[in-house]
Parts: sequence; C-alpha cells; structure tokens
Amino acid sequence: MDLISDYFHDKTAFDTQDGAYKPIIPAPTNSSPLAIPPLLSPDKVTNDTTYCTIRAQQGTVQYFPDTPATNTWGYNGNILGPTIPFQVGVHYKITLVNDLPEPTTWHWHGLNISGPIADGGPFAAVLPGEQSTIEFTLNQPAATAWLHPHPCPQTARQVWQGLAAEVIIQDTVEAQIDLPRAYGTNDIPLVLQDRSFHNGQLDYDADYDVDGTTGNYALVNGTLNATYTVTQPVMRFRILNGANRREFRLNFSDGLPFYQIASDGGLLPQTVGFTRLMLTCAERAEILVDFRGYQPGDQVQLRTDDSTLITFNIGRMPASDYVIPDKLAPVEHLDDSSNHVDHRTVMSGMDAEVRLDDKLFDMTRIDYRLPINTTQCWEIENTNDMTGGMVHPYHMHGCEFQVVSRNGNAPFANEHGWKDTVAVNPGEVVKIKFRVRQSGLYMYHCHILEHEDTGMMAQYESFDPNNDQPIDITHYVHQLEKNGLHVCRDMSGMDHSGMDMNM
Ligand code: C2O
Ligand code: CU
Ligand code: CU
Repeated sequence: MDLISDYFHDKTAFDTQDGAYKPIIPAPTNSSPLAIPPLLSPDKVTNDTTYCTIRAQQGTVQYFPDTPATNTWGYNGNILGPTIPFQVGVHYKITLVNDLPEPTTWHWHGLNISGPIADGGPFAAVLPGEQSTIEFTLNQPAATAWLHPHPCPQTARQVWQGLAAEVIIQDTVEAQIDLPRAYGTNDIPLVLQDRSFHNGQLDYDADYDVDGTTGNYALVNGTLNATYTVTQPVMRFRILNGANRREFRLNFSDGLPFYQIASDGGLLPQTVGFTRLMLTCAERAEILVDFRGYQPGDQVQLRTDDSTLITFNIGRMPASDYVIPDKLAPVEHLDDSSNHVDHRTVMSGMDAEVRLDDKLFDMTRIDYRLPINTTQCWEIENTNDMTGGMVHPYHMHGCEFQVVSRNGNAPFANEHGWKDTVAVNPGEVVKIKFRVRQSGLYMYHCHILEHEDTGMMAQYESFDPNNDQPIDITHYVHQLEKNGLHVCRDMSGMDHSGMDMNM
C-alpha cells in the first residue's frame, strides 16, 4: 500500500498563518491516562424502540492540582459525553434534558434525520429546566458521527464549555469486515480539541477570536497531557476534530504509518495509508494503527504539527497475524447523468467579513430549495484569495455528500467515501454531489464555529417534488419567539462573544 505523506491542503492557508495562532504546548500539569468515554446505555429497549436520555449539564473537572476544579459542561457527565451507539434500522426515542442555565440544542452531526427539529439545528432549542423528545430510524452506512450544541449564535461558546460526544453508527456491512471493533479495547474515540485556562477556568470571552477561538493545550477526550498504554497490536481510532477552529495535522513522532478506513460518512472503498493527515473542524477519520513493530517500554507520540496530542506507552500485547484489509465497503454510486451544476455556494472573507453567498445567516430566510431523491451537484467555492486566505470547512446537514473534484482535479485519496464536511482551500472550487432523502429544513455552513456564529451559514429546504408542501418557516420562528428565544435575523452587529447570554 502506498503511503501518503502530504497534508494535501495549501500550507499558506493553514491556521498557523493566522496572527492569533497559538501552537499547542504541554499543559502545566502531570500526564493523565486518556479518558475513554463510556458507551451510552439505553433506558429501555422494547421490541420496536430503544429509549435513551441525554442530559446537558454542568460539571467540574480537576485539571490542575493547585487551582479549584474547572467548571465544564457535558452530556450525562462532567465534560464531553458518552459515546452513543446507534444501529441502522432501529427506532430510537431520545429524551433531551436541558439542565444548563441557558437554552441549547442537540445537533446530530452526520445523521441524516429530519430537520429542523430532530436534526437539532438552531430551531430546536430546549429551554433551561425543560426537555424534549425526538425520534428517528437511521438509514445510512456505518460511520463515526457526533453530537454537539447548535444554538445560534452560541454554538462556539457551548462547545468550548465542553459539549460534544461521538456517535457510532453500526450496520451489517461494516460488521462483516475484519476490523477492530471492541469498544474501549481496540476501538476507541479520540476527540481532539484545544483550550486555554485562566486560573484553572475556561473563559471563552477572554480567548474569543472572531476567526476562530484556539487554546494553548490539547485536550484528547477531555484529557490534558493524555497518555495511553497500548495492549492491543492493532488499534482503531475514531478521530474527531472537535475544535472550534484548529486544524489538526496528524503525524506520529517517528513517522509511523497509519491507515484510514473511514471518513465522515462511513467506510472508504479502500484503505489509504498515511504518515500525515490533516483534519479540519468537524471532520472525522477512522484510522488503524499497527503497534506490532514496538517493544514493551517504547513510546510514540501522536502529534499535530510537532506538538504532542497523546503519548502511547507500549505495553505487553498478544501476538497477532491480523492483516489490515485493503478493500473495505463499496460506496454507492450517485447517478448524475445531467452533469450540470445545480448550485454554487461561495464562502468568502475572514474575521467579521465572513459571508456565505454574500449574506449573513437569517433564520427567517430559506436560502435554497431542492427536491428530495434527486442527485444534486453543488460547487463550493472559497473566494478568499487575500494573502494566504484561509481554509473553510464546509458542512451540510441532512445528507452525506461525495467529493467529485477540486478545481477540476480528482479528489484526494481519502475523499472517495461519504463526507459531510470538506475543507475548501482559498481560491478553490470543490464540486460535490449528494441526495437528500427526506423533506425538511437543514443548515449548511462553515464549521469554524465562530464563523458559523458570525453568520457564515444558510439553510436549504428539501421538498418532495411529487407532493410539495412548503415549510412554514414562520411557524418555527414563532415557536422560538413565543419562548423568548433569540431569532438570528440579518446577523450584522450581533455580539457573538458570549457577553449577550440570551440566544
Ligand atoms: Cu456540526 Cu451545523 O454542524
Ligand atoms: Cu451538522
Ligand atoms: Cu470559515
């Protein structure tokens, strides 16, 4: 298998070029074993439905020995959340409880479920002290997705405070491929984030940057200076870039190769070997790492650029003759005979000048309507060609897409599977195709969370061409207003820094 040692994207547009860039440095505290989130266990399983509860709550984590514990937010715990397993074809009823002091939403990033409510975008707010119930049945390939809040314009601050969890979608196709899948043993999540602390506390306003907030220290699954003792010869890591802004340029300290088996929306058709891999915000990569070349007592670091994210201490491991599979799962071909571009979306600007199609987000405006069950071909353009410009990660709700081309050239080697977030370089046009399977209202936006909160976001309505019943958006707007919640309209002049605690 060939090994790719290229980060693919334009170096001149990396976050390292930003004047406010903070390199990751070791945190001034001892190392700690990597936290492995528990698997969410259902409240109840009946013949036809699985019931779960996800509670957004306040908590604390003792990060530093000499300062008071850090105030954090989490799902069903102090920070981040349990890993949430969903089986394709099972019907779920999920109770969302808001024990936070402010409104929030539960967005299922990468799940193709009905919007705007179950999808959990800005319209799906739950008031403090209240709860709501959503239900869905998944019909999409096995994948690593995630859950995060999405209240407009407070997404970035709520994620910074600790709200995020991985979701594992399981199906029978993935189950038949010889891959590590013992959760917590040889299959573990790695949620990559960065934070700074102020007297041991998170202070979003102090660290706020309109071009994306970054921190000095790496948190992996919420752990500072994380270490992991390797006792399995081949590990599967489900990596999520859960940062507000930071790009992770992953590599091992000794150049150890790793093998990507899945992107955002599921398995790749073929395994791709890397020594370097860049993930922008919200992107996921499942990778296999073969530790058989090491001896007990060896150490190897997973890094971003040359900063350590996690130190692997090699322990004793059983012998194994496991062979990393080459072929994985076929990816459905989306027929697109018309070959015409249905829509071009333009991401432009930096700082407070960011725009999507020259506009700022407005919840009362539907920006695009598209028919369900037909292949859509969109071009996503990043016009930002100022000196260097910046990479914008483009994300869509309600579907997974396939990357067709980048400036007319073939997509990258690991872009041959489903994705829901794609990094677009300055001066680049990325062509994608997708099919939306259900009618509803869904967001599309830049996933640098501060850009999203600044208004670099729009919404599309999908409709059934055989039975077009346009969404009454005023109904959803009134629901929010009735509850005294903020409705983002023409977002210029908004305060996104969190000073205004009302949504
Ligand atoms: Cu991670 Cu609008 O989404
Ligand atoms: Cu999303
Ligand atoms: Cu952006």
